[in-house]
Amino acid sequence: MPDKDLFTPVTVGPYALPNRVVMAPLTRNRATDKNVPQAMNVRYYAQRASAGLIITEATQISPQGVGYPLTPGIHNDEQVAGWRNITAAVHDKGGRIFNQLWHVGRISHPSLQIDNVLPVAPSAIKPAGDAFTYSGLQPFVEPRALDTEEIAAIVSDYQAAALKALAAGFDGVEVHAANGYLIDQFLRDGSNQRSDEYGGSYENRTRFLLEVLDAVIEVWGSGRVGVRLSPLNPFNDMHDTNPEALFGYVVQQLNSRKLAYLHVVEGAIQADVDSDTAFDMAILRRQFEGLYIANGGYTKQRANDALQTDRADLISFGALYIANPDLVARFKQDAGLNQGDPTTYYGGDEAGYTDYPFLE
Ligand code: PHB
Repeated sequence: MPDKDLFTPVTVGPYALPNRVVMAPLTRNRATDKNVPQAMNVRYYAQRASAGLIITEATQISPQGVGYPLTPGIHNDEQVAGWRNITAAVHDKGGRIFNQLWHVGRISHPSLQIDNVLPVAPSAIKPAGDAFTYSGLQPFVEPRALDTEEIAAIVSDYQAAALKALAAGFDGVEVHAANGYLIDQFLRDGSNQRSDEYGGSYENRTRFLLEVLDAVIEVWGSGRVGVRLSPLNPFNDMHDTNPEALFGYVVQQLNSRKLAYLHVVEGAIQADVDSDTAFDMAILRRQFEGLYIANGGYTKQRANDALQTDRADLISFGALYIANPDLVARFKQDAGLNQGDPTTYYGGDEAGYTDYPFLE
């Protein structure tokens, strides 16, 4: 497929997208303290509707899945109502929007949990670092390892959230299996030391991901379900002894599902952190039989290079979308880009959120 660039239309599942510019999921901590999307979130997403596809910020599937203050959920009716305003505003402007389904697992804190219980995880392995809580940073705690019998209920929570996402008017969902959250904690052996059928072999560590995907596909159909992986991202104290083999296995299993896309965080999400192992993501791209969305510090130039050399089908942009609501127009016109202000990335009001200027 030669000669494609960011402005070559592409069909994702049932959707004909006008361009290959994807807005990456971005946690902005501007929902209410009841984890409900609100008016400023409507403006923010509507401003970015010219993206070929918007993937929302990570969204909790259940109260247990919460890991940060002021992040939205998709498990009660108030949240569905909040999201409906967002999907309607994006659709009014001709955009498409997928909801990213999230459970943070061990990256939570008792103070964020109902009855202050311990966060849950595949194994009782405490990550290094601190949790973000309503009273500031607090050291992570040792999570409670899930019993085998409890796992089906979490898969059901994903399915219930997928149904709510459908009711909220989304165009699809992305299963968040990246960045050290619950599904990734099952995949990689630094966080999964289980001895039941969810631990050990690649097959066993991938079981939870596939159960979640199959449950969500029952609701949406496979063409409206994507998945996000981050094979090398060490964020949230993640590591694996053989990521190339593990994720090669994962991608083979994904092939039989005929998903809307595979979305890959190709390196580390924090620019100042090196991932401890390296392999060529082009291998995963070739192993995957569907559309591949690449993510990770892409510029327009690098994005078009990746598309022209067939190393990706679409490119997602995170940081650039914070400061450039009209990123598509700016790319098209080779216009300058607004500079983002990192002090307003997480939390706050409309300043640094909905007030970045559009091109004249
Ligand atoms: C974050 O809130 O820092 C965050 C959330 C979800 C991610 C990555 C980072 O996938």
